[in-house]
Amino acid sequence: MSPRPAVIAGVGSYVPDRVLTNADLERIVDTTDEWIVSHTGIRERRIAADDQATSDLGLAAARRALEDAGVGPEDIPLIICATITPDHLFPVTASFIQDGLGAPAAAYDLLSGCTGYVQGLWTARQFVATGECDHVLVVSADKLTCITDWTDRSTCVLFGDGAGAAVVSAGEGDPSAVGLLAFEMRTYGEHGSLLRVSAGGSRRPLDHAALDAGDHLLQMEGPELFKLAVRGIPEVSDRAIAKAGLTHADIDWLIMHQANLRIIESAARRLDIPDDRMIINIDRYGNTSAASMAIALDEVYRDGRLQPGDNILMVGFGAGFSLGAAVIRWEK
Ligand code: ACO
Repeated sequence: MSPRPAVIAGVGSYVPDRVLTNADLERIVDTTDEWIVSHTGIRERRIAADDQATSDLGLAAARRALEDAGVGPEDIPLIICATITPDHLFPVTASFIQDGLGAPAAAYDLLSGCTGYVQGLWTARQFVATGECDHVLVVSADKLTCITDWTDRSTCVLFGDGAGAAVVSAGEGDPSAVGLLAFEMRTYGEHGSLLRVSAGGSRRPLDHAALDAGDHLLQMEGPELFKLAVRGIPEVSDRAIAKAGLTHADIDWLIMHQANLRIIESAARRLDIPDDRMIINIDRYGNTSAASMAIALDEVYRDGRLQPGDNILMVGFGAGFSLGAAVIRWEK
């Protein structure tokens, strides 16, 4: 069977109401608004309520994506949830979203942090291209603030909560010219410990000593990750652009994982993307992990900047250490 094109038929996102500003953080740790803005570009972030789990955020985004696609839950045979803050170790977070929607779907999670949305789209494309599924729901959701160490100023100023979703559906025409055109995905496991939650798994089950040491919380070697990201982003981007049969000049929009404004600006310079073609929302949401690019895509679509036929380069990097680039021709 020849492959079918896979297109993004609908998108949606959700961020919690509560805003935590840099001024609020100045009262929690030894930091300043000036340091946070100049080193990261972040001005504020959203914090989920205590009774909101990751699947609650994801479900809200999923409902908006289904509505945008004009597709009902009954049409969804597969739900993929990208998250590193699952509701529980198991059952998977996707199963709560499946139940919430009432979809007759299989459901599973991907745990690659900020690269998760691109991995989800990549996986969805295979199911659609082969004819196995007509629609796949990809949900990216994280409540990073529940694994944030609020005594560590080098990480707690970075993160926020949120969710985004996409319905990936079968399109029409030549798969090499429609929708999800090309991907380049990598994992460098040798750098995995640079971003980790050390305790709570089979290598180090959670015990009182782990809790006392804060090993159940996110730990990150920021400067090392910064260097890996700045080096790796152009590599996967160039490969994805070439696989799509395009050049840098063909890229209309750069949607990158919103981890640090300086990383985004450095990548845009390297890729010759003008300032007004970089999608930036890190100032309002901080780093929302898997949700970050999904929220950015939803915003740029809903505010009318995206036009049918536009080429989007989407690049994520994060836990693993993983990298992923996608070239997408927007069809809506
Ligand atoms: N406020 C004030 N000072 C601070 C703060 C803070 N919040 N945090 C760190 N500092 C200090 C440090 O203590 C250090 O002080 P010193 O020079 O006296 O020792 C100084 O600022 C510089 O610290 P660096 O860590 O070198 O700062 P840097 O400019 O590298 O910025 C940052 C740190 C923002 C974390 C950056 O390295 C970064 O963004 N890294 C990439 C993170 C990333 O992309 N992660 C992957 C994705 S995340 C995910 O998947 C969930």
